[in-house]
Amino acid sequence: MQRLDKFLSEAGAASRREIKKLVRSGAVTVNGSPAKAPEQPVSETDVICLHGQPVEGRRIVVLMLHKPAGYLSATEDAKDPTVMDLLPEKYRIWGVAPVGRLDKDTEGLLLLTNDGDLAHRLISPASGVEKVYYARHEGSCTEADVSAFAAGIMLKDGTLCKPAKLEPLGPGESRVTLTEGKYHQVRRMLASLGHPVSYLKREREGTLTLGDLPKGEYRELSMDCFV
Ligand code: URA
Repeated sequence: MQRLDKFLSEAGAASRREIKKLVRSGAVTVNGSPAKAPEQPVSETDVICLHGQPVEGRRIVVLMLHKPAGYLSATEDAKDPTVMDLLPEKYRIWGVAPVGRLDKDTEGLLLLTNDGDLAHRLISPASGVEKVYYARHEGSCTEADVSAFAAGIMLKDGTLCKPAKLEPLGPGESRVTLTEGKYHQVRRMLASLGHPVSYLKREREGTLTLGDLPKGEYRELSMDCFV
């Protein structure tokens, strides 16, 4: 059980102050009857309406987004569109934010959640979650490049990357598997071997793949995927 005013404000229906007025005016109903007071306890099974429209309560959610190029992995930005612009407004109100980042120009699988503990667990390098990327790049990767990835690449600024997997797929394309997420990591690793990247897509994170999710669209994942 929780208070009606808390339910409505967390759902983003109105501010606490407005809610008082709305309840007094009879605009809020609980299971079809006018709400009695803002402090009234409500449960998950109660149907709460505002001006006759059902209000969806805030839930803990995990979303998988097929991120297109051109969007920042952020909740807001003064200049560029963010991945939040691709989602219904309710998720912003519920406090959903990207888990880690894909670069503005990178496409593919991006998780978002309003579960802070889960976000922390997924981002932590200690989690060892595999992230798999498809890259198109200049030149073709060689067996020497594969060995360099396996040994752990030293980036131009001296940053040492953990051992990673490089699979050359053909001229100018490769698949890369990482267990960490440094800034521009795939682009910088391939560039350090003379293969600047022209296109990058994250295909997999742990056991999660995009499946047939179209670019620019999202779906809610079951929390069971993360227990
Ligand atoms: N590595 C990159 O270079 N960019 C990304 O967006 C993700 C991994």
